[in-house]
Amino acid sequence: MNKGIIVYKSKYGATKRYAEWLAEETHYDLTEVSKAKIKQVSQYRNIILCGAIYASGIGGVSFLKKNFKILDNKNIAIFCVGASPYDEKSFGEIKSRNLNGLPQNIPVFYGRGAWDESKMKFIDRMLCKLLKKMVIKKDPSTYEPWEAALVNAFGKTCDWTDKKNLLPLIAAAQTWQ
Ligand SMILES: Cc1cc2nc3c(=O)[nH]c(=O)nc-3n(C[C@H](O)[C@H](O)[C@H](O)COP(=O)(O)O)c2cc1C
Repeated sequence: MNKGIIVYKSKYGATKRYAEWLAEETHYDLTEVSKAKIKQVSQYRNIILCGAIYASGIGGVSFLKKNFKILDNKNIAIFCVGASPYDEKSFGEIKSRNLNGLPQNIPVFYGRGAWDESKMKFIDRMLCKLLKKMVIKKDPSTYEPWEAALVNAFGKTCDWTDKKNLLPLIAAAQTWQ
């Protein structure tokens, strides 16, 4: 058996793409969170969760939280995928919000994903529209990086996925015992 597994949650494909690239590089096994069984995942020494960010929540992190006691002695990392450009402050907030209830020393990495409203489910499209409505009421000079990115991306199809974004995570995984 492989010594690692990548568990991913992706609605629109960008996170899945990162998870597949990661599997190619690491030769770890790959499964979707919805199909992952803790009995199977806990057989592995190294576990990477790849989760897309929706409304500041990292998809799939609940799988780790629910099973953390069982996964206590494992090497774990999280790779999250959002539409915003990397920004230290916003990323810090995402980390503290999502790691709540998990050991704070779990390394969390970031890669920019994609944006395509035509692919979004109705409810997601409405949510994003609502968010944009709120953001454009603000003075653009006060936009947070994610707000500026949202306003910019609206109406466009964007793909920022890049294999290079996985390099820091791959380097960290290479140090795992
Ligand atoms: C409803 C919704 C909420 C989102 N919220 C965020 C967010 O809080 N921060 C962010 O950076 N990107 C956000 N995004 C953008 C997604 O993270 C981005 O499109 C990502 O590539 C989606 O990954 P997936 O293709 O694997 O589903 C949101 C997208 C949707 C549809």
